[in-house]
Amino acid sequence: MKFFLDTAHVPDIQEATALGLCDGVTTNPSLLSKEDGDPRRIVAEIAKICEGPISAEVVGLTTDEMVREGLEWAQVAPNIVVKIPMTTEGLKAIRLLDREGIRTNTTLVFSPVQALMAAKAGTSMVSPFVGRLDDIQVPGMELVSQIREIFDNYAFATELLVASVRSPNHVVEAARLGADIATMPWNVVQSLARHPLTDIGIERFLADWEKVKNR
Ligand code: E4P
Repeated sequence: MKFFLDTAHVPDIQEATALGLCDGVTTNPSLLSKEDGDPRRIVAEIAKICEGPISAEVVGLTTDEMVREGLEWAQVAPNIVVKIPMTTEGLKAIRLLDREGIRTNTTLVFSPVQALMAAKAGTSMVSPFVGRLDDIQVPGMELVSQIREIFDNYAFATELLVASVRSPNHVVEAARLGADIATMPWNVVQSLARHPLTDIGIERFLADWEKVKNR
């Protein structure tokens, strides 16, 4: 499973890249609004740091606006993937961008049939938002499992990208279900490596070494 960073914060992307844990990045208007400066320049900088696909989202609601913005985003860097919201206008934009050779990530997916429609339209990635479903007491991982089954039934090339990840448990479940990608905030990436027994183990080994090191 590929690890994507769900952030527009450059230092976190640099750190994850140094760790070898940045297979791609997903941004969105909310994440970009937290950073200072021109969003296009920030995305361009991210695209230089991380070689994988970098999602940048359109904000227009009509097909024409989405295609125009998608073409603009595609100029920013060769590894840009245009994020399109899952609407009927969005589906048309996905088809048109696909014909231009521009990859898309269909975002705000909350049902298996939305994922199927996006795959049929030719999207490169679909993003089910598991955390936002969990927030309304709908099990987000059940959606991931349903999409996996559908994509495997028809051998779609579309990648299943688990989004709105809130905890290490989401990451483990995504991997168990065979998701292609999980995109996660930096705090989740950091907590993945931690385990209290690892810390206790290190402490004990160091304490025991103190006793014998000068023998
Ligand atoms: C995905 O591409 C989105 O940027 C993101 O995962 C949304 O997560 P949130 O529900 O925590 O805002």
